[in-house]
Amino acid sequence: MSAAPVILDCDPGHDDAIAILLALASPEIELLGVTTVCGNQTLEKTTANAIRVLDHVGRADLPVAAGALRPLMRESAVAPDVHGESGLDGPDLPAPTRGPSGEHAIDWMASVVAGSSAPVTLVATGPLTNVALFLARHPEPARALERIVLMGGAIGEGNVTPAAEFNIWADPEAARRVFSSGIDLTMVGLDVTHRALMTAAHAKRLAASGAAGRLVADLHGFYSRFHRARYGWDGAPVHDAVALAHAVDATLLETKRCGVRIDTGPELSRGRTYVDVWGSAGWRPSCHVATGIDAERTLELLLTRISALG
Ligand code: BDR
Ligand code: CA
Repeated sequence: MSAAPVILDCDPGHDDAIAILLALASPEIELLGVTTVCGNQTLEKTTANAIRVLDHVGRADLPVAAGALRPLMRESAVAPDVHGESGLDGPDLPAPTRGPSGEHAIDWMASVVAGSSAPVTLVATGPLTNVALFLARHPEPARALERIVLMGGAIGEGNVTPAAEFNIWADPEAARRVFSSGIDLTMVGLDVTHRALMTAAHAKRLAASGAAGRLVADLHGFYSRFHRARYGWDGAPVHDAVALAHAVDATLLETKRCGVRIDTGPELSRGRTYVDVWGSAGWRPSCHVATGIDAERTLELLLTRISALG
């Protein structure tokens, strides 16, 4: 079977960086390029970080296009407490060797999707601003997408407020547009990503494997401190890499078709993903919501693939 074409829209971000590496290391998919959005840090920093990661593994050839500077309607709110001032604190990565492509991310997406011989899967691991703008500005190519797999939301509790997960909370209006678009959508939320932790033992194994593995181990060193301090966990969730892993091997997650609505309302519930798991609200079950994960196989895929990058 030929590799499935994928665009990764992200805000690196430690777990976004791991998702980029997993994409590069996975023959099941062909990474067409990386688009960046303001999220974990400013657009300037997330774009530089995507390029720094690609540089590190010798992929300066891969297109990178920068997108939205800020959410559709809200002020931007970055996450230095989780990802540091650079957005990728921990490893000692040099400055990027290039800037992004001259095109805006959504225009780059449109031409790549329209020109692809096979339908493209869009994996989104940051706030959904670029994706919402893409759907609005380029409806035809957007309709031609194979599907959207996104990291975001939760059936249960959030991580930025008790109600909401960061990516949805950061730009709820964009999320609402994406969730109501009618495009085949898979939501990979905290319900599953919090169940697959990368531990110090995993990081040690990666560190011994080569440049890509060392980078992930250094990322883990910084990123796991936050999760230990907040949750008392002996490891860190690799949220975005789980969404990417699902695009590589769909059997890693169990999903259930549910209706999902996004709360764009007042602060207390801002960004909540209401999931009609049992059909009690009678909402059209338009989203594949991740409800279960084979954590061991997911982490093993991550470790073997990234180790093999050398
Ligand atoms: C999501 O928010 C960001 O901090 C991570 O990169 C991930 O995409 C987890 O809530
Ligand atoms: Ca992210």
